[in-house]
Amino acid sequence: MSPSPKILITGATGNIGTELTKYLSEKGIAFRAMVRSVEKAKDLATVPGAELFEGDFNNPETIERALNGIERAFLLTNSSEEAEQQQARFVESANRAGVKHIVKLSQWAADANSPVRFLRYHAVVENLIKNSGMAYTFLRPNLFMQGLQGFRDTIIKQNQFFGAIGDARISMIDIRDIAAVAGEVLTGSGHEQKIYNLTGPESLTHTEIAEKLSNAVGRKIQFVDISPDTLKNVLLSVGFPEWQAEGLVEDYAHYKLGEASEVQSGVKDATSFEPRSFDWFAMDYAGFFS
Ligand SMILES: NC(=O)c1ccc[n+]([C@@H]2O[C@H](COP(=O)([O-])OP(=O)(O)OC[C@H]3O[C@@H](n4cnc5c(N)ncnc54)[C@H](OP(=O)(O)O)[C@@H]3O)[C@@H](O)[C@H]2O)c1
Repeated sequence: MSPSPKILITGATGNIGTELTKYLSEKGIAFRAMVRSVEKAKDLATVPGAELFEGDFNNPETIERALNGIERAFLLTNSSEEAEQQQARFVESANRAGVKHIVKLSQWAADANSPVRFLRYHAVVENLIKNSGMAYTFLRPNLFMQGLQGFRDTIIKQNQFFGAIGDARISMIDIRDIAAVAGEVLTGSGHEQKIYNLTGPESLTHTEIAEKLSNAVGRKIQFVDISPDTLKNVLLSVGFPEWQAEGLVEDYAHYKLGEASEVQSGVKDATSFEPRSFDWFAMDYAGFFS
């Protein structure tokens, strides 16, 4: 019988989690994934090295069962009104279960005093982890390149995507690089008590992003700048809850000020390779937008 995994992945069925489980599996590393429904996570069950455990951030007993015997844990929830409480609950359970190291997926510019609600809750949880006595590594990625997938319909039908960012630059990151950083931190050494600011290799305006996407898909795609109010209405109309829609509008106000334009070396520092460029992302995902 193979020994029980020492690594726990939460959010394993999501965007980053899916890439992270692939990354670990390809390296031959066994891990446990905490999922809300084993039935719904059937695909993950077939990934070599994966052990599935049912657990819910809203149910501490199930979190503690999932954490039994775990030494390093990757903490990721989606951004909802419950995220701060869910993550705080997880930190408390991890500490009780004797976890040695928490790798938290945070966000670029996390700050308890930020006007952006997502940045405030991430900072609160970072502080809880710091004060817990467990070793920590905080991954603070910038805006995900894969977020463009949310505009698939308008890109295919109208050759357009939207944002309330004007001509501000932003150093977006490919989630495959975030997953690689998480994989290295969860399996390597020397990453304790570190904060990795994760960006792509260049800072681009959304008009430049549209040009690069146009080159990759072979037709003209246009970026359309919209007002924060229009952005909020669009998000509500496609089903985002009010709290999240308002949070995304706050995110874009922060991007529009150029506060997410810096390029940093976090990916290279943690993995020793360069992050993927937007051109690379666009070539890999061209089929998705065609
Ligand atoms: N989007 C960006 O550009 C950006 C930039 C920087 C940072 N971030 C941060 O990235 C994080 C989101 O990452 P992502 O896009 O990979 O997330 P995601 O795709 O939304 O995945 C969320 C994961 O959490 C799981 N989950 C949700 N509720 C749960 C519960 N009650 N108990 C257990 N598991 C639960 C989901 O499982 P199910 O399959 O059961 O639903 C899923 O695996 C957020 O913290 C956000 O602040 C995002």
